Amino acid sequence: MDRIRIVGGRRLDGVIPISGAKNATLPLMIASLLTGETLTLDNVPRLADVVLLQRILGNHGVDVTVSGKRSGETADHGQTLHISAARIVDTTAPYELVSKMRASFWVLAPLVARMGQARVSMPGGCAIGTRPVDLLIMAMERLGARIDIDGGYVVARAPHGLKGAEIVFPKVTVGGTHTAIMAAVLADGTTVIENAAREPEIGDVADCLNKMGARISGAGTNRIVVEGVTRLNGARHAVLPDRIETGTYAMAVAMAGGEVLLQNARPELLQAALDALSNAGVSVTPTNQGIRIARNGAGLQPVEVTTAPFPSFPTDLQAQLMALMTRARGTSHIVETVFENRFMHVQELVRLGAHISLEGERATIEGVERLKGAQVMATDLRASVSLVIAALAAEGETIVNRVYHLDRGFERLEQKLSGVGAEVERLSA
Ligand code: EPZ
Repeated sequence: MDRIRIVGGRRLDGVIPISGAKNATLPLMIASLLTGETLTLDNVPRLADVVLLQRILGNHGVDVTVSGKRSGETADHGQTLHISAARIVDTTAPYELVSKMRASFWVLAPLVARMGQARVSMPGGCAIGTRPVDLLIMAMERLGARIDIDGGYVVARAPHGLKGAEIVFPKVTVGGTHTAIMAAVLADGTTVIENAAREPEIGDVADCLNKMGARISGAGTNRIVVEGVTRLNGARHAVLPDRIETGTYAMAVAMAGGEVLLQNARPELLQAALDALSNAGVSVTPTNQGIRIARNGAGLQPVEVTTAPFPSFPTDLQAQLMALMTRARGTSHIVETVFENRFMHVQELVRLGAHISLEGERATIEGVERLKGAQVMATDLRASVSLVIAALAAEGETIVNRVYHLDRGFERLEQKLSGVGAEVERLSA
């Protein structure tokens, strides 16, 4: 298995290009199941999760072709995927595939909407908590699907099509909102989704579906209205920039010191995280090319942050902020309210010399003078990258094991960091 070796202590200066968002790309690819025509996606990041989803969609009969590079394009340009679900040959998503990536469970809604049935493996637990799918199933049932659980599979049937309805989520769920929208676009009548997730990736998918002929309004607010249509057509759509990658590199620069332009980043996608960085004393300047992050010499101030659904501070940046706060001048508190067990990075940060204590959903981080390199590993992609951030400020060498987690969600991480002066290399097994 590959490992990443980092030697801390280098300033970061220059430009880091921000890729298309993983968490928009995955549901956009899944939305291709809703039409027999070709969906073309631009600015798709080169990630292991994208490759895995291509395999999962291939199992349903979907053809995915990747355009070659055009003249003038570099590795910094995202890929273009042409996705065609002209003929769906199989409505089963097997355990072997779904268990590798939770978001693949989301094929349930478009398969039922288009084919009247689907059999999708329950995703099971994962390293960041139990993560149930009860609210996704509730949304499908509200729209008239009959659901059975059989041998670890969710079997959904709507032989006469889905019917518009009111769906009220008792808790904000990104996957539940994607599911409700994708099921409702081809349903008979109007669907109203209350307490919908407002994450920017929901808006991006809704924009793409509207280009495909759907009638969705209110995406980005907590009340989404979908008027069902009888069919969708092909379209072309560019994936929005990755706000979690943006926030991650912003924290890396804050940790290492220096001045970096995060090219193509959009501040409105992560205002809460940028505010936390400003409070910590980091200079954050939106420009027409992206966001400029700088920290020169001065120490970091501690912060108080609570994760919550968008527009609050994202859970997907919690581990990275914690890594940063290990070097603050004072005591920070971070409360994780989205997932009940997303603190797997804490013990690894402690191996690097951090002082962190946990009490339920609340972490207390006492800033330390120095971190020291060590061997570390993590169990999910955001936790892994928090170790990379800590390593940038640690004395000596840190080896981050199990790099496949990073490859799931960060495109060319070591090139992007070494391009601005970090001492980072991949050690191939
Ligand atoms: C999405 O996961 C993201 N994944 C996650 O990113 C992200 O952490 C999460 O949203 C929260 O922002 C993708 O977009 C592919 P949820 P999702 O449904 O949709 C509970 C990453 O690192 N819940 O919004 O699975 C759930 O347990 C990943 O890129 C139920 O109780 O998250 C959690 O506490 C990790 N029942 C809360 O809701 C349900 O049926 C929010 O989860 C569904 C969810």
